Amino acid sequence: MVTTLGICAPGAMGSAIGACAVATGHRVVWASQGRSRDTVARAEEDGLTDVGDLGALLETSDVVLSVCPPHAAVDVAAEIAAHGYAGTVIDANAISPATMGRVQRTLASGGATVVDASIVGPPPRGEDRTRLFLAGAGAERFAALFADAPLHIVDLHAAPPAASALKMAYAAWSKGSAGLLFAVRAYASHAGVEDALLDEWERSQPDLAERSDRQAADAGPKAWRWVAEMEEIAATLDDASLPDGFHHAAAEVFHRLRGHRGGPPPAIEDVVADLLDPPTDD
Ligand SMILES: NC(=O)c1ccc[n+]([C@@H]2O[C@H](COP(=O)([O-])OP(=O)(O)OC[C@H]3O[C@@H](n4cnc5c(N)ncnc54)[C@H](OP(=O)(O)O)[C@@H]3O)[C@@H](O)[C@H]2O)c1
Repeated sequence: MVTTLGICAPGAMGSAIGACAVATGHRVVWASQGRSRDTVARAEEDGLTDVGDLGALLETSDVVLSVCPPHAAVDVAAEIAAHGYAGTVIDANAISPATMGRVQRTLASGGATVVDASIVGPPPRGEDRTRLFLAGAGAERFAALFADAPLHIVDLHAAPPAASALKMAYAAWSKGSAGLLFAVRAYASHAGVEDALLDEWERSQPDLAERSDRQAADAGPKAWRWVAEMEEIAATLDDASLPDGFHHAAAEVFHRLRGHRGGPPPAIEDVVADLLDPPTDD
């Protein structure tokens, strides 16, 4: 029976998941050490208890949920292992099966039991039904944490790393196709045929103009962390002897949009401008 859940780190997704567990009567803890003011404010708002640092979080948690930017997943696992944590860690990061294997081995070296997981859908609030996919034995143990919450636990009834593989396949399309759309819009602008392209889309691909606007607004503020996710997908495809170039290119597209981190949702025109004239701040 899970009584205390530790969240590392309560971003938009982790904090909303924590709030679901708080709403079902669980204690949810997190560690503010090293985290930004945005994360502190979000966790407070969601009723999560700040225990200070990772050591304190691990001492009090039966189960730890790791949900952070994909590029940090292995480092977070190493920090947990360094504390010799022997509880259960649900790794719900958007990482390749190979990276999930590294996370699993790292955490196991510290004594933890690892659950392969992934998330599809927006942060679970209100009516939204976000899916938390789990692979491996014991998935039902976590269902009580989120009973009646807008977070649907899906037991894949498959061995790890099926949950990570599913996320890679899902995001390969949902985010990879957004990267392709942005590159197409930027090229059409560069070539002076954007209005003609939009006219033709209206006739033959009527959803693409609206989709460009919607995906620009959605992707802009998150693009900084989608770079590593695209690289994880490229590695996933390469490991399966499939072409990986689509997602290396998508990573480059999102890298050029990194300046929108923490800002308002950009218009497609802003995205096109960034792709054609990339920021050079690093
Ligand atoms: N948001 C979504 O719609 C969505 C959907 C599906 C899956 N996910 C999964 O959730 C993950 C996080 O997304 P999010 O929306 O919660 O992102 P987010 O709002 O940007 O939050 C990221 C959190 O991770 C923390 N963080 C940054 N660098 C870290 C590091 N090196 N070590 C530990 N923590 C670090 C941040 O802390 P600071 O504030 O201190 O930087 C912040 O609390 C994604 O990568 C993806 O795997 C998200």
